[in-house]
Amino acid sequence: MCGIVGYVGDKPALPILMDKLQMLTYRGYDSAGVAVSENGHFYVEKTKGRVSDLAAVIEPDRATGSIGLGHTRWATHGEPSTANAHPHLDCTGRLAVVQNGIVENFWELKQELIEKGHHFKSETDTEVIAHLIEEYYDGNITTAVNLAMQRMVGSMALLVVHKDEEDRLIAAKMDSPPLIIGFGRGENHVASDIPALLRYTNRIYPLEDGEIATIKRDDVIITNFKEPNTPRLYDRKVMVVTWSTEVAQKEGYENFMLKEIHEQPETVDATLRGRLPEHGDGPVRIPELNLTPEEVQRLERLTFVACGTAYHACLVAKYLFEQALRIPVTVDVGSEYRYRKPMLGKNEMLVAISQSGETADTIASMREGMEQGAKVLAITNVLGSSIARLADGVLYTRAGPEMAVASTKAFVGQLIGVHLLLQYIAQYRPIAPEMRDQIIALRPHLWRLPAQIRHILADTTQIQTIAQKISTKDACFFIGRNMDEPLAREGALKLKEISYIHSQGYAAGELKHGTLALLDEGVPVIALATQGSVYDKMVSNVQEVLARHAWAVGVVQEGDQRLSSLVGRENIIEIPKTHDWVAPILTSVPMQLLSYYGAYALGRDIDQPRNLAKSVTVE
Ligand code: M6R
Repeated sequence: MCGIVGYVGDKPALPILMDKLQMLTYRGYDSAGVAVSENGHFYVEKTKGRVSDLAAVIEPDRATGSIGLGHTRWATHGEPSTANAHPHLDCTGRLAVVQNGIVENFWELKQELIEKGHHFKSETDTEVIAHLIEEYYDGNITTAVNLAMQRMVGSMALLVVHKDEEDRLIAAKMDSPPLIIGFGRGENHVASDIPALLRYTNRIYPLEDGEIATIKRDDVIITNFKEPNTPRLYDRKVMVVTWSTEVAQKEGYENFMLKEIHEQPETVDATLRGRLPEHGDGPVRIPELNLTPEEVQRLERLTFVACGTAYHACLVAKYLFEQALRIPVTVDVGSEYRYRKPMLGKNEMLVAISQSGETADTIASMREGMEQGAKVLAITNVLGSSIARLADGVLYTRAGPEMAVASTKAFVGQLIGVHLLLQYIAQYRPIAPEMRDQIIALRPHLWRLPAQIRHILADTTQIQTIAQKISTKDACFFIGRNMDEPLAREGALKLKEISYIHSQGYAAGELKHGTLALLDEGVPVIALATQGSVYDKMVSNVQEVLARHAWAVGVVQEGDQRLSSLVGRENIIEIPKTHDWVAPILTSVPMQLLSYYGAYALGRDIDQPRNLAKSVTVE
């Protein structure tokens, strides 16, 4: 976690660093700092709190230099404090370092450096890096960083500037945390994520594991500390991003989450476009999946792995693939998968789902799958992310940058990605003609989604009223069956994440095995009943809820009668009529809105909920 930024050019670095840090606050927000170098002097400012707190204490007149770096922190080693905020300096105060990630052998290195006479001012692992580079510095900062990287074990991205060589920034990456170089005119940029660069350039290069970049205002040289003596030019690998600057801004919405909820029609359209024919049963084209018809035909089992919201997309995939294709599917959370000694056969495939493409637990699971010889695919939102680069094939979700910590449009993009994978695989599998027809028949339902999501968003009055009532409660339960079960979990995660109301999502049939004991007068139970095959069972579950005098809210497809008369029209949230297998995509929208308006009523910090960060790059 943490966001890091750097600039070298001909303009004052400080305002550019602050602007980029502001764009990265979703990566961490417990402390922040900057260092700007000019004529052999550093201006360093750091503080506990957010980038806005840093902005309140910096003195722009004291820092006019054109090279610098900055950091916004999510604590791993050492509590959030000004002393532990980055940048960290060496003993001489001649070099400054910012880091995202973890130096796993920092304690051993720290002891060694203390014995050599180094003095430490913080509890962080990052300060070890500054002293280690100092130890190796002999007039060439790139060489010193190179040697230091070879001594460290862990997963990190870092930036270094040295006063004696203030024409260059050094960027280095080990393992997963992202670090992107942005190429400008007469200036170059670095940031942990693409949105921070978009105001300055759309030409980027994501550093790869083991790479060190020496970045000057008009030149970038990249070497690899794992393969010394192989300098190579960057220009063969520059990527051009098509995200506009505006999509990374709030565009008049009060916060990013609401903006991102409203962007979902475009997410669906963009993710389908060019891949799924709008009419007829033509071929599904996803060349970047890198998946041959022979591999599909040999496929015996799929394993989906992810964390948090993306895990819920995996659970939907299990219901969908098993019912539609009769392919067995295993689903795991990333943090459990690699430690449970999983078994993968040679005709099996692992699919990782991740918005950021940087989630450490998901990356570790992919590596586990690769070690076992499985083909590994990724459904991800971020071009050139670690997961995209690691995978044998990628399906990009095209949701654009997601800034709010609570995942919304990325989840919808993931569900569309799952459907596209189903459509792609179905065309090469021997399946019964009736099932093939049913899978093809999903296509018009998928293409109708943008209009249907707009329809839900056009009038949210009833959802807002219900959300405000939920915001007065201490707990909330979500229940569902079949594909509504993962959506119940997702609704609960979304609500707890941003409102801090205790909430749980369950398979509705599990209520009677324990959870019913928690139901009492007025306790909210959100009953998802969009799946026709289990509708009767859901009605029975709602009756159990009402019998305990709890407050039942039904989420149903348009035209519902029975549940509506049972709970009352004022307690019904309708989604437009669709195929049951497509319904989770529509159901996710009221789940997001319930949590949004609940948190809003409580005055919570919606985009940056407490204790969380957008991209979880530590295990
Ligand atoms: O970037 P990823 O999709 O891999 O992130 C996984 C989870 O950390 C993420 O979905 C998290 O659960 C969200 N904050 C939920 O809204």
